[in-house]
Amino acid sequence: MLQKVPLLSLLFLGLLLCLSIHVEAFSEDVSAWERPYLVRRGHRRSLVVTEYGEISAAEISSGTKGPYHIQFITLEPNSLLLPVLLHADMVFYVHTGNGKLSWTDGREMKRMNLRRGDVYRLQAGSVFFVRSNLDSERQKMRIHAIFSNTDEDIYEPSIGAYSSVSDLVLGFDRKVLQEAFKVPEEVLEELTSATKPPAVVHAVTKDQKSVNWELEDRMLDFLIGNKHKKTKETKTFNILDAKPDFENCNGWSLTVDKHSLKSLSDSNIGIFMVNLTKGSMMGPHWNPMATEIAIVLHGRGMVRVICHSTANESECKNMRFKVKEGDVFAVPRFHPMAQISFNNDSFVFMGFSTSTKRNHPQFLTGKSSILQILDRGILAVSFNVTNTTMDQLLNAQEEALILDCTSCAEIEENKMKEEFEKEKQEEEARKREEEEARKKEEEEARKREEEEEREREEEEARKREEAERERQEEEEKQRREEEEEEARKREEEEREREEEEARKREEEERREQEEAERERQEEEEKQRREEEEEEARKREEAERERQEEEEKQRREEEEEEARKREEEQREREEEERREQEEEERERQEEEEKQRREEEEQQEEARRREEKKKRQEKQRQREETPRREHEEARRQEEERQKRRWKEEERAKERERREGGGEQPEEQEVEARKEDQERKGDEGKGRRALRNPWKL
Ligand SMILES: *[C@@H]1O[C@H](CO)[C@@H](O)[C@H](O)[C@H]1NC(C)=O
Ligand SMILES: *[C@@H]1O[C@H](CO)[C@@H](O)[C@H](O)[C@H]1NC(C)=O
Ligand SMILES: *[C@@H]1O[C@H](CO)[C@@H](O)[C@H](O)[C@H]1NC(C)=O
Ligand SMILES: *[C@@H]1O[C@H](CO)[C@@H](O)[C@H](O)[C@H]1NC(C)=O
Ligand SMILES: *[C@@H]1O[C@H](CO)[C@@H](O)[C@H](O)[C@H]1NC(C)=O
Repeated sequence: MLQKVPLLSLLFLGLLLCLSIHVEAFSEDVSAWERPYLVRRGHRRSLVVTEYGEISAAEISSGTKGPYHIQFITLEPNSLLLPVLLHADMVFYVHTGNGKLSWTDGREMKRMNLRRGDVYRLQAGSVFFVRSNLDSERQKMRIHAIFSNTDEDIYEPSIGAYSSVSDLVLGFDRKVLQEAFKVPEEVLEELTSATKPPAVVHAVTKDQKSVNWELEDRMLDFLIGNKHKKTKETKTFNILDAKPDFENCNGWSLTVDKHSLKSLSDSNIGIFMVNLTKGSMMGPHWNPMATEIAIVLHGRGMVRVICHSTANESECKNMRFKVKEGDVFAVPRFHPMAQISFNNDSFVFMGFSTSTKRNHPQFLTGKSSILQILDRGILAVSFNVTNTTMDQLLNAQEEALILDCTSCAEIEENKMKEEFEKEKQEEEARKREEEEARKKEEEEARKREEEEEREREEEEARKREEAERERQEEEEKQRREEEEEEARKREEEEREREEEEARKREEEERREQEEAERERQEEEEKQRREEEEEEARKREEAERERQEEEEKQRREEEEEEARKREEEQREREEEERREQEEEERERQEEEEKQRREEEEQQEEARRREEKKKRQEKQRQREETPRREHEEARRQEEERQKRRWKEEERAKERERREGGGEQPEEQEVEARKEDQERKGDEGKGRRALRNPWKL
């Protein structure tokens, strides 16, 4: 039966764990949800650091109200935390070392020796200072303090938990201070000109009491208004000396309330302490009225906090802390919890419960468990198990708040690790999903951007095209214009050229025409000339004909004339001849004789002459037309005849008038000479005339 107890405890724990819906992952860096409920030692906020001590702080969530302010004050041996004015109720626990607390509530100065395990409360408005002892162990004095957080007595983060007294005093004008303190000028001078010391300084012994101490006393007098200070020694409550509320081989637990410590009477903060031996567990319990804020004093442990199943999951989740010395963790009210120690070390923690009013922790296990009070049938129904099972469960419970729980912490730790792993994986998966979603989003965004980019590009391309088209059109236009210009120029040139050509052609034509004209004119001229020549020729011809005609006519007339004259001549000659014939005959008879002599000479001459004449005739026949020659000869003959007649008539007349023979002989002689001169002309005539005479 005795062996069954831890087994059943384990079973119950398992059951409890099964109830947990969500498991919180644990790591050195707590999750976002757990962060307000867990402050690791390394994450405390440092307020003061000097060579004589340091003060750090942590804000921890109470789950419902604002966060609680926790301070860790550490003093080196023989150091002094300078006087401060408390702004809120302060409950503290002396973790290590010893020293002296001086404080006043305004009525009297109180002094108190402090040692490890002491707990006390200072009310808001108190002024206090602490001095650590220089003992043989030279231990640091460590004080854990919590500042209340109630409606009427609230810790204001903006003004801090307390303020330095020197700051308060020196905030006043020097005049006010002088009037108030009634001290010599030089004192105030020193006071105001002094460099402000840090909150924690080296403490001096009473023998070496300096101005500072005097001033401190005066300041306290000023603030408290008590000139006749009395120091009252008070005793405090030491947790380590007190008898635990519960104790067994698995550990002990103790709560300090107003009953144990009067100074807590009108406070809302209680104190508790738990020492779990190796492999033990503080049985599952919850605080109906208070939030537990615990500080780990020693060892390591697992803390399991269950959230109500009905609670909003986003506001409340199950938590599993692995804590070690110096960590601070909080468990909100109504949250069932279990603290478990590891197998190789005890787990000690002290804490502050935020209420001392009727806060009876409710344990689920043990003889005093609330389950024992409840109806078992109802319980069986509520757990959906048989009466027997419920009986077995509850009957197994003994009078124990702290239970043996060997390896529970280790199992919890493993579970935590697993779940943390799972959580991590889930987280990773989530992150992956988120990443994927983000990527998808990005992808979409990118696509959108690309789309937009594309659209923009298209737009730009369109614009570019538009611009290009416009440009091309412009170019085309320009080109066209240029071409037109070119064409115009060409046309112009063509025209000019054509005009030039036309001009040339015209010129040519004109020239040709002129040429033709000239030719024509020449032709005409020629023709005209020819015509004129023809005309002239014709005229000449006509003239010649006319002349010939006239000549002929004249000749005919002349012939007619000559014939008439011959007729007349002949008649006259007939007359004359008859007259002459007589004379002739006489003369002829004379002449006949003369002539015959002559004729013989003549015949000789004539034969020579005839030969010469024939040669001459032959030449003349070639040279002169015979007719003309004939004519001329005839005319000459006629003229000769006429001359002869006239001469003969003249001779006749001369003879008749008185003429001798001389002239006649001279004339005959002349006539003979003339005949000889005339040559052949006279021969023919003479030949012709000769037959007449013969
Ligand atoms: C806690 O309990 C163990 C074992 O009983 C003991 O050795 C240790 O000193 C205790 N710690 C405190 C702080 O009381
Ligand atoms: C849970 O709490 C969150 C934030 O506090 C809120 O937005 C949500 O509506 C709550 N859900 C329920 C079921 O009450
Ligand atoms: C207990 O074990 C843990 C590792 O599991 C180790 O870090 C720690 O120092 C041990 N405690 C003691 C007192 O041996
Ligand atoms: C369990 O016990 C209750 C009373 O304790 C009784 O009314 C009920 O019938 C029992 N159920 C079973 C299944 O035995
Ligand atoms: C109780 O548990 C049994 C199985 O173990 C199940 O069939 C039954 O529905 C449960 N009852 C209710 C009220 O959920």
